[in-house]
Amino acid sequence: MVRAADDFERHACIAALLALADEPFIRGVLGHPSPRVRLAALHLLDQPPFATLSFGDLMGALADKDAGIQAAARRLLERHREWAGSAAPWLREQLTSAELDDPTASALGSLLVTFQSEAAVRQLFSELLDPATPTPIAMRALLLAQLPALTAQEPDPAWLRAVPAALAEPALRAAALQVVASYPQPDRESHLAKLAVDAGVPAAQRLLAARLASRRAGLSDDMFTLAIAALGAAAPAVDRLAAADLLTHSRLTPAQLRRLLSSWTSGVAVSPDAFVPVLTRAVDEASRPSLADFFLARLRSGWSPARPTLDEALRPFSDGSPERVSLLAAWERNRAGMAERLREFHALLAGGDPARGREGFAKATCADCHRVGERGGTAGPDLTRIGAIRSGTDLLESVLYPSSSFAQGFEPHRLIRRDGEEVSGALVAQGPGGVRLRDVAGIVHSVRSEDIASFERQQLSAMPEGLEQLLTSDQFRDLLAYLQSLK
Ligand code: HEC
Repeated sequence: MVRAADDFERHACIAALLALADEPFIRGVLGHPSPRVRLAALHLLDQPPFATLSFGDLMGALADKDAGIQAAARRLLERHREWAGSAAPWLREQLTSAELDDPTASALGSLLVTFQSEAAVRQLFSELLDPATPTPIAMRALLLAQLPALTAQEPDPAWLRAVPAALAEPALRAAALQVVASYPQPDRESHLAKLAVDAGVPAAQRLLAARLASRRAGLSDDMFTLAIAALGAAAPAVDRLAAADLLTHSRLTPAQLRRLLSSWTSGVAVSPDAFVPVLTRAVDEASRPSLADFFLARLRSGWSPARPTLDEALRPFSDGSPERVSLLAAWERNRAGMAERLREFHALLAGGDPARGREGFAKATCADCHRVGERGGTAGPDLTRIGAIRSGTDLLESVLYPSSSFAQGFEPHRLIRRDGEEVSGALVAQGPGGVRLRDVAGIVHSVRSEDIASFERQQLSAMPEGLEQLLTSDQFRDLLAYLQSLK
């Protein structure tokens, strides 16, 4: 209601100005003491019949003391690409000025991306990222963080020259790794391999460095051990997701395959779906029975992958073999039981306590991947208003059977680069220039069209099944009440 009243007042203000005034008058009130009036004047000047807003007017608004007006001015600037040339000096001044607060920094970041094709803006990146320029570290981090989104043209070689120094600086390393993920640099691989085994570097960064260093090579036993340790529900979510991403994109040796299968416990909080390709690729004669046992155990604890994922899992087992027959039977039992199981759980949709459910949300690792309000991970959709857009039954189904439907914007895709590297994740953007995928660890991979060998949608969910087993039935009831209360 508050928002509706605000909009109403703003429109009333615009209508009043429009009825009363001519252009010079409206220009005059750009300096009015009321932010509401200043904002209305700004929008009016940008529209017919006036359409006389100038870059100078916008500059004033960009520097306005009211944050709402600043934000409106930045949006207007995004619409007026013809001012990109004039915007570059302004951006430079902002970036090199005193400390920026977070919202302003992220707004500047999005303007840099908007105007990325402008030579002056590209030059700004090169200059401020140059190790010889005394750019403050927070600003360097901001600039590095934008690089993966600059996909309109080839990256400027000067940007990539900033990477080695950034990899060596703890405060910049995460952003630098993201840059390497987007712009593969084969000559960085030995450097990354060193980071991957450096015990002084946080595990998630080591795992990502290993992922980038082992694009073509296999996984060293050190890295493999680190990844296995990070898979458990007790590990921080970023580590767990980075480990899953590393393992599912590696070529495992038969010994590593056996270790992975035997160390997978019920406490592993990642989806087996994603592991199917790597497991079926690595399996050999000797490990085939353990792989069958592994899949059977997952199916018995409720794993119900979509049919294409199951088919991939069954590939190592020949038609009519006892393993194939029992795996298929277990899967069919699960699928047949889905409707029944949903009905059983249906009773839990009523009578829970949302306040206690919030604790379950953290305990069942939901918060690692989902944001509610200001907190939580970003590997899955934001659930802040999920209770308003999904029925109780939908919510139940999303938790019990994640791969039965996909939230918009999170449909998984698999891409194979021409150099053989595989990337999978949610599709962030797709255009004639290429695609951008966000993997479960939150890394955005930008791949140019000419580097893509194949690209397809998948039926597997990055959300693990069986998370309800981390909770008692009462706790699950509370969790469902909490989800339904998010409106
Ligand atoms: C490893 C990351 C991860 C964890 C942990 C996780 N989710 Fe998800 N979740 C996802 C992803 C990715 C999607 C989107 C793909 C899909 O719909 O399957 C999703 C989808 C959902 C949806 C559907 C959203 C929509 O818009 O329809 C709901 C509801 C949900 N999750 C709830 C939960 C709850 C409750 C938990 C904890 C019991 C949980 N998730 C744990 C990653 C995760």
